[in-house]
Amino acid sequence: MQESAFKREVRRYFDARADRYDHDTETYDQQDFINFRIVIPYIIEHSGECLLEVATGTGIVLDMLLGEGKDAYGLDFSSGLLKVAQEKRSISGARLFCGDAESLPFSDRSFDSIGVFRSLHHMENPRIVLYEMIRCARKNVFVYDSAGEWRRLLKRALYKVGLYQPFHTLLRGQPDTGYRQANETEGPVKVFYAEDAIPMLREGGLRLVKTMSLHSNLFIHGQK
Ligand SMILES: C[S@@+](CC[C@H](N)C(=O)[O-])C[C@H]1O[C@@H](n2cnc3c(N)ncnc32)[C@H](O)[C@@H]1O
Repeated sequence: MQESAFKREVRRYFDARADRYDHDTETYDQQDFINFRIVIPYIIEHSGECLLEVATGTGIVLDMLLGEGKDAYGLDFSSGLLKVAQEKRSISGARLFCGDAESLPFSDRSFDSIGVFRSLHHMENPRIVLYEMIRCARKNVFVYDSAGEWRRLLKRALYKVGLYQPFHTLLRGQPDTGYRQANETEGPVKVFYAEDAIPMLREGGLRLVKTMSLHSNLFIHGQK
């Protein structure tokens, strides 16, 4: 299948920054690392034995799971980031898969649990990715991403009364496409908030077991 322009832009952005990804995220995303102290033990307790991290990047989360003795695997479409996971974190190549999250190269119910962390907003089609995760999971799906909070509610309210795009056009000179160009600290984005995953997980047949609000981020646990 041909790679879309957005996917290519995202993959190239992360490939080009592979060597500095860890430094940048440790510098600019410190709150995530504080939140991981709560999220990772929760996952360790509730995930079963065999896990897949979709969009594992340099393997930061994957390494934490492996360190706790989990039979964990990671997938990403940036070969540059996966190389860092292998070389810097010594994660075995047998645990890393280079591929597109929209088409996971695994059969149905291959893993006890599948998680995606800090990545859905860099994806072209989060719904397709979540459905793929649900397909390949025997039991649990975990999502951790930025929460929209009041911005999301305000946008939805304005949309409902037909005022969002007129306001956006007034302020920014054009309608909002949802696309945000990359900058020095954040890759290209298609606006997606963690809350948006909740109805998608439900539509995919999961029940919500837990949500945790963690300083502008949201952790979601859905179960079959
Ligand atoms: C901000 S990074 C997060 C990486 C890692 N989860 C972490 O927390 O450090 C976003 C990741 O999403 C990956 N990604 C985006 N779209 C993808 C897709 N369609 N398939 C696989 N990986 C994708 C990027 O390559 C990148 O590694």
